[in-house]
Amino acid sequence: MMDRNFFEKTLERWQELAIRGLRTGEKAECDAPDVLERIIVTGMGGSGIVGDFLSDLANHYSWPFEVLSLKDDRIPFRPREGDLIFVVSYSGNTLETLSVFNQSCSASRCIIVTSGGELLSRSIASGKCSLRLSEGLLPRLDLPEILYSILSFLTSNYKIPNIKAESLDDSIVIFKEDLKHQVNELAKRFMISPPILIVSRPYFSVAIRLKNDLAENSKLYSSIEFLPEAAHNVVEALPYIGDPNRIFIVTGKYSWGNIYIEAFSKALNGKTGYIELKGDSLLQELIYGYRLSAYISLELSSLRGFNPCTTENIDKYKEELGRVLSH
Ligand code: PA5
Repeated sequence: MMDRNFFEKTLERWQELAIRGLRTGEKAECDAPDVLERIIVTGMGGSGIVGDFLSDLANHYSWPFEVLSLKDDRIPFRPREGDLIFVVSYSGNTLETLSVFNQSCSASRCIIVTSGGELLSRSIASGKCSLRLSEGLLPRLDLPEILYSILSFLTSNYKIPNIKAESLDDSIVIFKEDLKHQVNELAKRFMISPPILIVSRPYFSVAIRLKNDLAENSKLYSSIEFLPEAAHNVVEALPYIGDPNRIFIVTGKYSWGNIYIEAFSKALNGKTGYIELKGDSLLQELIYGYRLSAYISLELSSLRGFNPCTTENIDKYKEELGRVLSH
C-alpha cells in the first residue's frame, strides 16, 4: 500500500537511487551529437523537473550548450542537428510526453528516460536508446535516479565545466544531511499560512519543486515569484497580504551578494523569511533543496491529514484526457 510509510521509506532510499542513476547514465551507449549545441528536456510534473534542474546548473556554470526545459505536448520548433532530446516520463504513459515522442523522435536524436509503459514499448519498437528507471515507485519519488542518470550520461559523454564524473560521485554525501529541525520549523510555519516563495537564479528549480511537492503531497496551494521580475510588480502588493510571515526567499551560498535579493528584501523592510540551502557545491545545494521539499511536504501531509502518495485529481485528469483522445 502506498502511504506515508512507503513515502518515507523511499526517501530513505534516495542515495541508493542516485547511485543507480549514476551507473545507468555512465553505462548507456546512446547516439548523441559529437558537438552538442542544445539539450531539450521534455516531461511533465515529477519527470519534467529535471529540465529545470539542468537549466539551473547550465545557467550558473555557463555550459557550452543550451538547456531548454519543456513541459508541453510538443516541441514548438524544428529540432536541429546539434540537439539532443531527453523524453522523460517515469510511468511511460503520460500522453503529453508520448505526443512529443511521436512528433519529434523519428527525425531527431532522442533518449528515453522511463521505468516502462507505452513510452518504453515505442522506444524499443523504433530502436531508440533508453535510460531505464527502477519500477514500482511514484514519479516524484524517483527524482534522484532521474536526475543522476541524465547528468551522468552527459558528464560521461561531454566535457562540462564544473561538473565532472568524479564530482557527481562526491555529491551524493548530501543525501545524508540531517534536515529535521529545518523541516519541522518550516512545516509548522506553512501550516499557519501557505508560503509565497521568492527565488532568484540559480535556485529556480528548488522553488518549483517545493511548490509542486506542497500541491501533490500536502494538497496545499502555494506560489512562486521570480527575481528580479517580482521587484517590478508583485513587490507593490506584498505589504498587503495580511500575514507578512508568508514570504520566504530561497537562498544558498550563491545568493551572497545577490543585489536583487538585497534590494528586494530592503524594499519590504526586511520582513521576509528564508529557506536556506546547504551544500559544498550548487549540485549539492539543489539536491538538499529537493530533499527538504520532500520532507516538508511529507510532514505537512500528516498535519493536514492527507496521504502523500495519492493524487486523485491528477489521476482524474489523465483518465479524462485518455478518454477524450481515444475518441
Ligand atoms: O509526480 C507525479 O506523480 C506527477 O507529477 C507525474 O510526474 C506527472 O503526472 C507525469 O507523470 P510521469 O512522470 O509518469 O510522466
